[in-house]
Amino acid sequence: MNKTGIIGAMEIEVNLLQEQLEQCRITEKAGMSFYEGLLCGVPVVIVKSGAGKVNSAICAQILADLFDVTHIINTGVAGSLDADVDYCDIVISTEVCYHDMHNEAMGYKPGEQPRPGWLLYTADEKMIACAVEACCKVISRMEQPPAIHKGRIVTGDWFINSAERKAAVIAKFGGLCTEMEGASIGHSAYLNGIPFVVIRSISDKADDSADVDFHSFELEAARRSMEIVKEMVQKL
Ligand code: ADE
Repeated sequence: MNKTGIIGAMEIEVNLLQEQLEQCRITEKAGMSFYEGLLCGVPVVIVKSGAGKVNSAICAQILADLFDVTHIINTGVAGSLDADVDYCDIVISTEVCYHDMHNEAMGYKPGEQPRPGWLLYTADEKMIACAVEACCKVISRMEQPPAIHKGRIVTGDWFINSAERKAAVIAKFGGLCTEMEGASIGHSAYLNGIPFVVIRSISDKADDSADVDFHSFELEAARRSMEIVKEMVQKL
């Protein structure tokens, strides 16, 4: 039977899902609270990892080791890297990579870990299709539906909040949006043979306005992403 691990970095990225859990049991591990139960009748484990690559990688590993999850979804907010990706739009990962892994001096490509081929982590096709289907259903209920985008999500331990930094990330990695956990979760999922997908909604444009925009849009963006996850787990 499927059991889906759902990771969000911040409280606002998981709280509405945790509140809806039935038969909820909480397990504490590595400073994280793992909420295990049924979401719309479907077995899930929902957890706030904390921000950044290390927290999220540890979190994904615990989901694999202690909870035997069959799928992993990363939900939350992100900064847009693409002029077509607007506030509160939805981005579904086809692949994830790091923008702050630099071993070019050793002959590796930007983003590539010192192990050939460890550069892009590919999201699961079936989960992508489920996410798109869930998205379409959720936005069909909205008066002003956001756009849905599919593509690369770029991750690093850096809140990108300047046009200059943003341009540097785009120049090397492209991508639709940036955040701080997706690639480390994808990396951990890959090492454990677990299918994953990242779903994000846009809180800011990762430029000089990001600090202010983030606080204006984070709640709505986080809520949208959670709504899609809730719809999606029922279809996996
Ligand atoms: N999460 C949301 N916005 C972000 C940004 N601009 N940079 C990194 N992570 C983010």
